[in-house]
Order: sequence, then C-alpha cells, then structure tokens
Amino acid sequence: MSGRLRFDGRVVLVTGAGGGLGRAYALAFAERGASVVVNDLGGDFKGHGKSSSAADKVVEEIRAKGGKAVASYDSVEAGEKLVKKALEAFGRIDIVINNAGILRDRSFARISDEDWDIIHRVHLKGSFLVTRAAWNHMKNQKFGRIIMTSSAAGIYGNFGQANYSAAKLGLLGLANTLAVEGRKYNIHCNTVAPTAGSRMTQTVMPPDMLDAFKPEYVSPLVLWLCHESCQENGSLFEVGAGWIGKLRWERTQGAIVREKTLPMTPEAVQDKWGKICDFDNASKPRTIQESVSLLNDVLSQIESEEGVSMNSTSSTGSVASPSIDHTKCVGYKMPPSVYKYTHLEPILYALGVGMSTKDPDHLKFLFEGSEEFCCLPSFGVIPAQASMLKGGLTSVPGLDIDFTKLLHGEQYLEVYKPFPTSGELTSEMTIADVLDKGSGAVILLDVHTYCGKDLLCYNQFSLFVVGAGGFGGKRTSEKAKVTVNPPNRLPDAVFSDVTTVDQAALYRLSGDWNPLHIDPSYAALGGFQKPILHGLCSFGFATRHVLKHFANNDVTKFKAVKVRFAKPVSPGQTLQTEMWKDGNRIHFQSKVKETGQVAISGAYVDLISAFDKPSTQRAMKAAELQSDLVFEEIRRRIKEVGNQLVKKVNAVFQWDITKGGKTAVQWTIDLKNGSGTVYQGPAQGSADTIFTLSDEDFMEVVQGNLNPQKAFFSGKLKLKGNIMLSQKLEMILKDYAKL
Ligand code: NAI
Repeated sequence: MSGRLRFDGRVVLVTGAGGGLGRAYALAFAERGASVVVNDLGGDFKGHGKSSSAADKVVEEIRAKGGKAVASYDSVEAGEKLVKKALEAFGRIDIVINNAGILRDRSFARISDEDWDIIHRVHLKGSFLVTRAAWNHMKNQKFGRIIMTSSAAGIYGNFGQANYSAAKLGLLGLANTLAVEGRKYNIHCNTVAPTAGSRMTQTVMPPDMLDAFKPEYVSPLVLWLCHESCQENGSLFEVGAGWIGKLRWERTQGAIVREKTLPMTPEAVQDKWGKICDFDNASKPRTIQESVSLLNDVLSQIESEEGVSMNSTSSTGSVASPSIDHTKCVGYKMPPSVYKYTHLEPILYALGVGMSTKDPDHLKFLFEGSEEFCCLPSFGVIPAQASMLKGGLTSVPGLDIDFTKLLHGEQYLEVYKPFPTSGELTSEMTIADVLDKGSGAVILLDVHTYCGKDLLCYNQFSLFVVGAGGFGGKRTSEKAKVTVNPPNRLPDAVFSDVTTVDQAALYRLSGDWNPLHIDPSYAALGGFQKPILHGLCSFGFATRHVLKHFANNDVTKFKAVKVRFAKPVSPGQTLQTEMWKDGNRIHFQSKVKETGQVAISGAYVDLISAFDKPSTQRAMKAAELQSDLVFEEIRRRIKEVGNQLVKKVNAVFQWDITKGGKTAVQWTIDLKNGSGTVYQGPAQGSADTIFTLSDEDFMEVVQGNLNPQKAFFSGKLKLKGNIMLSQKLEMILKDYAKL
C-alpha cells in the first residue's frame, strides 16, 4: 500500500467551508498537515445575509485538533481578497477548492434575472475570480491543484434548476480549459459532482439518507486529486455515499452526409440518422485535437472520391470568398525565381529525409569531401518549391483564393540531369491548369528548373484549394501527371525507416517554414494533435528507399517520381515503403507502420533503362565506357541463347567496372534464373561471384589480350564469392561477346 498522503507545507483555500462539504474538506486537509483558509460568507442557502460565525467555528475545530487555519469572511465575488488572506497568513497558495454555493431553484419560466445572475455570480464567476487570483502564484511556483464543484443537475439536467445547471456545467468548461492551460506549469484542475447530505440537500433528502451521504465520503477524492503525486488533470468525477466514478465523452462513429459535388441537405441527415446516433464502436475523444482531427479525415475522404487528398501546405493570406477565373490564370507564367545554394543545402536536405552516416553508402550524400559527393534526385523539389513558397501564387491574375485552405495533394518530379552540388538555379512557374472539383479547385503548377540553359528538372505540384470549386472549370486535364495503383500482389520489397521526433524540425531548414510542422499551437489550429511531418519529407524518405533498393543509390539511374499525399505522418513514426518492380517502373506506397495507414499512395519511381537516349550523364558515361558495349552485346546474345547458358553456367555474376580507380558502373549477368538476363546495376538477388576490374582491362580480357587468371594474379581482376565459377567466364566472354 502507498504511504499516507500528507499536505505538510501546502496552503489550501476552501471556499464555502463553514458547513457541509467545504467544512469536511477543510478538516481533512488540516488533519493531514495543510494550512487552511476557511472561507465562508455565512449567509443562508439562498444567498441572503452574512455572518463570520460559520467560518470561525470550523477554524476553531481545526485549531482544537492542533491544525493550522485562518478564517476568511468575504464572498467569493471578491476573489482577490480570499487569496490575499492565504498569502498574508501562510505566505503561499497551493490548492483552491471552489466549493461555495447557493440555490435559487425555480421552474424555468419563473426564473428572475436576479435568480439567474446571483447563481452565476456565486458559482461560476466566483470560482473564476478566486482561481484567477491564485493562478499566477501557482504558475510561478510550478505547482497548483484546483477543484471545481459541478453537479449532476448540470450534467444531466434537473427540474427547477435551469440557472444552477447552467452555472454548474459552465464550471466544467472552465475546468477543461484550465487543465489545458495549466498542464505545463503542473497546475491540475479537476471537477467533482458530489452528492452529500448538507443544509443544501436537507430539504430534499430524508434524514436517514442525509446520514448515508456524509460529506466525509466525498472529501477523500478531493484530497487525492489535490495531492502532488496525483497526475489526474481535466477530469470529471461523480462521487457520493462512498462511491466514485469518472465520466468522459463518447462520440458515435457518425456518418458523412455530404457528397462531393452535391449540396448538403436535411433529407440526407434524415437518411443517415440511425448511423449518426449509433453508439456501436463509439470513440472517446479526450482532446479538442482528437475531436477535430476527424474532420480532416472527413474532408480527405470526401475529396478522395476524385483522387485528390490532403496534406496541408503553407499559407500566405486569406480572402473572404474565393473566386477563380481560369481563363485568366491558366497558362500564366510567373517571373523566374533564382535559388542559390552551396554544398550545405543538399547535405541538409539529405539529413532532412533521413539519410544517416550509419549507412556507409550514404556518405556520398552527406560529405562534401566524398569523391562521389552528389545530390539526392528528390532534392529537385527544393528549388522549385522555394519559388512557390516565396508567394508567387498570390500574384496570379484570376486566382483569388484563400491560401490557408491550400493543401498539397500530389507531386511529380522528373530529373533530366543530376543536380550540381552547389550553384544557382532558375525556376520558371506556370499555371498548367486549374480544375474544378466541386468542393474545391486543383491547381496544377508546373515548375521547370534550369542551371544556365540546361533544363535540370520538371516538377508538377497538385495543390487542392478547399472550398474554391464551382467556378465552372473542367474536372480533368491531360496535363495532369496521374498516380498509378500498385500491382495486385505482395510487394517485391519492403523497407522500414524510423523518422526522428525532430525530423520536421530538421526538414524545414530546407526551406518550408510553415509553422504547422513545428509549432504545436499552430498545428492545433489545423486540427492536428501535434506538428506533422512535411509531405515532401515523407516523399524524400520513400524516394530514397526505392533508389537504394532498385538502383543501389545510383542517382544517375533516377528518372521520375509521382506521389499522392494521402494521410499526414507524425515525426517519430515509422515509414514503411512497399515496392513493386515492374520493368523500369517501381510502384510504391508508404505506410505509417504504427497505424497501418497509407501516407503516400498511387506512387511510382521510373528508373532509367540501359537503352534510354544518351541525354543523361549515365548515358554519357556509357559512351565513355567501352565495356558497356560488350555487356549490351552479351545481353543481345543471351536473349537468343540464354536458355542453353543457364543450363551450363547456373550462376549470377556481378561486374563492378572501374574508371580512374572508382566504380563507374555495375552490371549483372544472371545465368541462373529463367532464361538469363543482363542488366545494369548490382545483382537483385545475391551474386555468386563479383568481379571488379577496370574498363580497360575488361576490354583486354574480352579481346583475348589478357588471360583472366593472369589478370587475377596480377591484381587487375578482383574476385569475391565463388572463384571456381570464374572458369566459366571465358566461355561467356569468348563465345558470345563476338566483338
Ligand atoms: P452548503 O450550503 O452546506 O455549503 C455551501 C457553503 O457555501 C455555505 O456554508 C455557504 O455559506 C457558503 N457560501 C454561499 N455563498 C457564498 C459566497 N458568495 N461566498 C462564500 N461562501 C459562500 O452546501 P453543500 O452541499 O456543502 O454544497 C457545497 C457545494 O457542492 C456547492 O457548490 C453545491 O452547489 C455543490 N453540490 C452539492 C451537492 C450535494 O448533494 N450536497 C450536490 C451537487 C453539488
């Protein structure tokens, strides 16, 4: 059993402590070491008259038992004076029990203004004034416990008590907010709804019942809630006759009554009434964030009917009623914007999307001194986004929208050349199209980013503007880069990566300063329990998962990526990327592992195939590497005679071809599976033998000028894995290279 709960050194103010429940609290606190301010106005139960005797009697009782107490005779309407008494007598205030109360019961129609006002003044305003006077002291000392006294009449309603019920449930609302505001200062505020025999209830309770509902059966709960070891905050309890129960809100699953393109009607509400009121599988929202976050899901569900979903993006202003004139804004080109960067930005970006030195092959993205230092391809969204975040959209003619309602729905990025690791890039933004989706508008924003005259990449942002639809535009556009669902089978690869709690704080340094991703109070306004991760941060994670898994982190293999932002991700959650290979296209989706919710959907990465036009650096490299021609020739021949070779060789060979001492390209000759294949990149399963040799020596070997064994012993050819299989090497190279 835990030790006896003591209140030594604590100063407690109990209002209305001259009798009934207040007296029981005061005696109980004093008995356990607290210094008590016994406040009571001393009037009758309807609030008429005043007297000091009620408070004095209780103070005497306490002192007679050796406790510490002083009397306070002011009305709770003079809240400051009550707290002043505590400070003067005992030097501090730790606990406030708002208990004072009166009744003015009348059936509703007969309630006078005065009956209404005095009940509110004593119960609601009195509790406010006393608590406000104590608040800053509690805040400064980082400790405070507050009790509000509500009533079953407020919770459930009671005949003849409309004034009292209203004030009593008002106290619950007050307590709920104090619990939120006080939490970080260790000020807890809870509410009790007691049932006890007192002068207030003696007219309605028979005498033996009065005895059974002793105030002493309520005070233990109040003492526990006020103890420093009790962490309860913002809760409501019913208590009486020795029983204590906790109350909470319950909410039905409810029903979405609105359809995306139709007006919302009372008939639709009528139709769904059963579902709206059905408490099966009800939820129990505990915070306003939990309550409101559902509405975000609702919006996203309504929108997803049309394939556009939600991810909040930045805001720059607002307008009263949105209006879009697509004839003016479509095709509008914004002035070019310049993005200057040093090697810091790509490194910061790589860290922002979760790269770590724990992974040795990440060093080329994190260390400017690495020989292979390069930018992640998804970095391409950064210069494009920078131009958008500068507020470019606000100047578009015919686009009069509320930018606080802007959500980042989808993203497409196509990369034409690897990004320089520092430099000056120019982005040109065009409104490619604006679509009318009924409940909202979709802006397709095309951004072309150049380094000098070279086009480096193309981005398409799909921005959904909630409430901006109905302007008479078209619903679809041939200019839209569309998402593609993954194949209907188990994924070929799954990769999980934990984001850190500071992931958004780190990612924002790449230029998206929206406070939604860092400031809890701003996030709460958007209905989120805490700041959410940037959609483009999850995008960066997922894209590099694909690049690592299917292109061995070779940025030159990356061609394009498309994603839809389906659900927000919280920093600290685990992103699980599921991938399906389909030729050069890798379909993927990213789930939040903890919840199973799909955060990125309909996504794919296109990789560059070995036969792509030589517009890329990879292709330029191919032209420089003679060995590539040999491998392509081997590939052609394997198509013809692969079957035979698979039978003879039954092995997977990986080639790491070097140029100037560094690996320039990897090839895999798979003569084990199916009818054999040759492809660029590391072996997708495991290789039986890995050969490493220079492009030049490779050519010497295939031309018969250099014997592979000799090359091995002279150190020109390095071998890993099954060395014996290299015997079969000559067979492949000699017979089938046919140069
Ligand atoms: P009570 O009448 O014995 O105690 C209330 C005390 O508050 C009285 O001593 C009274 O003099 C004092 N008071 C009244 N107006 C005041 C003012 N302006 N400033 C300072 N003191 C003032 O009644 P009881 O039953 O002990 O009630 C305590 C609290 O519990 C009240 O807020 C009441 O509404 C609440 N409550 C009681 C229930 C019960 O079954 N007894 C049921 C639900 C709520």
